Amino acid sequence: MKIGIDKIGFYAPHLYLDMNELAKERGVEPEKFTIGIGQEKMAVPPITQDTVTLAANAAAQILDEADKQDIDMVIFGTESGIDHSKSAAVNVHQLLGLQPHARAVELKQACYGATAGIQMARGHIALNPNRKVLVLGSDIARYGLKTPGESTQGAGAVALLISAEPSIMEIEEESTYYTDDIMDFWRPVYSDIAFVDGKYSNEQYIAFFQKVWGAYKEQTERSLDDFAAICFHLPYTKMGLKALRTVLDEVGEEAQTRLKEQYQLSTQYNRNIGNIYTGSLYLSLLSLLENSEQLTAGDKIGMYSYGSGAVGEFFSGILQEGFEKQLHRTEHNAMFEKRQKISVSEYEKIFEQQIPTDGSVIEWSAKEDPAEICLTGIQNHQRIYHVK
Ligand code: HMG
Repeated sequence: MKIGIDKIGFYAPHLYLDMNELAKERGVEPEKFTIGIGQEKMAVPPITQDTVTLAANAAAQILDEADKQDIDMVIFGTESGIDHSKSAAVNVHQLLGLQPHARAVELKQACYGATAGIQMARGHIALNPNRKVLVLGSDIARYGLKTPGESTQGAGAVALLISAEPSIMEIEEESTYYTDDIMDFWRPVYSDIAFVDGKYSNEQYIAFFQKVWGAYKEQTERSLDDFAAICFHLPYTKMGLKALRTVLDEVGEEAQTRLKEQYQLSTQYNRNIGNIYTGSLYLSLLSLLENSEQLTAGDKIGMYSYGSGAVGEFFSGILQEGFEKQLHRTEHNAMFEKRQKISVSEYEKIFEQQIPTDGSVIEWSAKEDPAEICLTGIQNHQRIYHVK
């Protein structure tokens, strides 16, 4: 039985910051951000979007009534959740109106959470082939104003429907993974911004890639030649390229050109959104599928997942017959085009807005936010959500 990705949804907030303008304000050359880091635009979440609403908006785009009855597990991968106790999967389950006989749980391991969710979902579907699992990767990446990490912030969510006989991509059984306790990036529970050893994190991202790719080659006897494209976790779009370059000489020129061209297509969406942590690898897959004209059914796609701290995994998928009919290229282009540009000072103001932590009541108007699902207030230390 084939198990894999049946549908992919994606949502990003309607506000963005132009990286050229951020560079000017921060006194650096714009090319540092647009070429050196590889980012054009950064999605900025208004106070009315949190990880719950981002994920619910992503999933609302793809689920029909039959899916809502068939889903019996919701797995929410995040590292910027809203509650230390209750899982955001429960909030999303309610906002989407899923049938109640379901499991709902939140998973955390930095940017690796959604990949862990997909692998767990595969096991669940193997035991329950008639059911479906909703895997969410939703995050708001915050390093702080005027920090080196600032240019690699972002916000957004990806929703993946995992099922038997999937329409988009079968996930293959072969997979290699690696864990080591390192401090490259972390966020203590008392902090709303991440701490990071930037250069060390870059090195570890590449070191983990080499470990899992090396193990994958040994396990499968496959080579880079077998892949139509490789997607990477993209904290910023130059990062995956740095890792890819370390192995490109394993193949001839033709394969090198193909992998580099497909890499560029796989970074198009991420370049205009920023880091969305857990959803980032799957946003890259979506970018590849919706922008590449070279891919056909049967193609093998490599997937490198990395979550600081750190866990890395390399796995692969096979594109299914008619996969292109399951994509939403036009809607996603419209979403990018409809976004509203904000100035650096507007971004800084939004960045500093905080949800009250003293139990006070606050309300926001859902009219200010074009999203279908928004956060409209806080009461009794509880978030109030609104579905339009
Ligand atoms: P920085 O010190 O601001 O930048 O930090 P830099 O000086 O290293 O410059 C960046 C690049 O721009 C360099 O290219 C420069 O040469 C180039 P490279 O040598 O790296 O190829 N550059 C220029 N290029 C063209 N024209 C110019 C120009 N000037 C400079 N004029 C850093 C950059 C990424 C470290 C920082 O932004 C940061 O700390 N970001 C956050 C951490 C991060 O993203 N790490 C990535 C790996 S870890 C990971 O992926 C996990 C993560 O997603 C978290 C999770 O798992 O939850 C982060």
